[in-house]
This record gives sequence, structure tokens and C-alpha cells, in this order.
Amino acid sequence: MDLYLDKKTAVVTGASQGLGRAITKTLAAEGVKVLAIARNEELLKSLQQEIAAAGGVVPEIWIQDFLVPEAPQQIAAAALAALPHVDILINNAGRSRPLDIVGPDDEWQQALLLDFDRHRQLTQQLLPHMIGRRQGSVLNITSTYELRAINASAVFKASITVWAKQLAAQLGPYGITVNCLQPGLIDTANIRRVFTDDQRRAYAPQAIPLGDFGTPQDVANMATFLVSPRAKYITGTVAAVDGGLRNYAF
Ligand SMILES: NC(=O)c1ccc[n+]([C@@H]2O[C@H](COP(=O)([O-])OP(=O)(O)OC[C@H]3O[C@@H](n4cnc5c(N)ncnc54)[C@H](OP(=O)(O)O)[C@@H]3O)[C@@H](O)[C@H]2O)c1
Repeated sequence: MDLYLDKKTAVVTGASQGLGRAITKTLAAEGVKVLAIARNEELLKSLQQEIAAAGGVVPEIWIQDFLVPEAPQQIAAAALAALPHVDILINNAGRSRPLDIVGPDDEWQQALLLDFDRHRQLTQQLLPHMIGRRQGSVLNITSTYELRAINASAVFKASITVWAKQLAAQLGPYGITVNCLQPGLIDTANIRRVFTDDQRRAYAPQAIPLGDFGTPQDVANMATFLVSPRAKYITGTVAAVDGGLRNYAF
């Protein structure tokens, strides 16, 4: 199926590894020019090389710590300088943050910034541009909110979902879609910090109907569809890519 993504442009945060890297590679293979953002320059350069070798559209890269206060303005300026315009924004940077039930305040503050505020601020930087063009697609990579223990990241990802639904309602008249993609347990460095291989083998078959963790490509496939013109009538939704892990409807 042609996703009609050829010659589109995208900004992807957290593109150096894991889900963001797979999403960038998949978009590049579909003809999308991406501005790939993260802190690790070496990984971003290897991403450019991999995409060039595979014959995709080589992404521009931007080295940025998303936590610094001026990051949203700097990323938006870099995007509008490197790309002719921005069709797609993928808010992906983040990390799992399991905490004690009385976990330290600074960890909660960092999670608030990394998993909610910076995404909201970057989106707000780019929205006037999208509204002016009367087109755009914003996809937020969130997380499950059915955990049985405190994880500060998941709390703010849930906030992203509520904010995204509100935005979707207001931006529909401008032809802009806003959706969330909720990964379950996907095999990335982020998850390998929390589950050893032995824990994964013991946990996955009994907790996940499809029997194992997913791959970054499983998420990239859904993400690429959701930001494509093929998904033009889908907005304000949450798409789960979790092998059936979730327990409740959302
Ligand atoms: N994998 C899963 O099962 C799963 C489940 C639920 C939710 N998620 C969410 O999916 C997203 C991607 O996760 P992942 O599993 O792919 O994690 P990952 O492999 O650890 O990748 C995280 C990405 O975020 C970037 N990042 C982290 N902190 C940053 C900062 N301060 N400034 C700039 N970039 C930063 C990292 O880049 P640098 O280190 O190079 O800066 C990296 O590219 C996250 O939002 C995560 O919460 C993942």
C-alpha cells in the first residue's frame, strides 16, 4: 500500500535509538525527510549512514538535550531551517521511571519535563506553522497507564493522552490530526534496564497474549501509518501496540 508519504517532512524526538530510531528509518524508507533529534551524536550519525546504505532519504540531525528550557524553541527553529516545512511531529523522547511510592521530588519534576512539558512546548512551537498551512499530523508516543506500581513517566504520558484529545478536537478544523501510540513492552534499551532476559522469558508468556515483547519495528509500522495521509480520518485516538498486554479498554 502506498502511504502517500513520499516528499513529506517530519520531526522525530528521541531518534537515536529504540522506537524513535525505528520510526525514523521507516519514515525515511517511505520518502520522508526527517529531522532526527537526540543527545547522542554518534548514534544519530550511524542512523544517517544506515539509512543512506538502505537507499532511504537521509535525515538531518540535531543534537539537543530535551531537558534544557530552551530546547523546544531551538528544535522548532532547527526544523524550520532544515526542512522546507513540517508535515509531521513525532513526540517520542522519554524514558521509563519506576520510583518508590515516596520517590524523590526531583525525579517527578524531571519526568514531568521529559514526558509531558517539553512535548507540549515543542508542539506549541510548531502548531502556528501547521495551522498556517492547514495541515499536519502530531503523534505522541505514550505508554500504558495500567501499571501496578509507581512509574512517574507513565503518569505524565497519561497527561499527554488527555491533552492530545483536547488538541485533536480544536485542531480538526485546520486539517491537523493528533493521536497517541501506546507501546506495551517493546524490546529497547529503555525496557532492558527494567527487565533482564530471564525476567522477560518468565513474564511475557503469561502476561502478553501474543507471548513476547514487541520489536521497535512493530511500533514503527503503526506510527508510520498514523502520520500518513492514509490515516487522515483518524484523530484523538490512542492506538495500542502491545501484543494484547492491556487489561482494560481506554
Ligand atoms: N520500549 C517500550 O516498551 C516503551 C513502553 C512504553 C513507553 N515507551 C516510550 O517510548 C518512547 C521511546 O522509548 P524507547 O523504549 O525507544 O527508549 P530508548 O531506547 O531508551 O530511547 C529513548 C530515546 O529518547 C531520547 N532521550 C531520552 N532522554 C533525552 C533527553 N534528555 N534529551 C533528548 N533526548 C532524550 C534518547 O536519546 P539520547 O539518549 O541520544 O538523548 C533516545 O533516543 C519513550 O517516550 C518511552 O517512554 C516505550
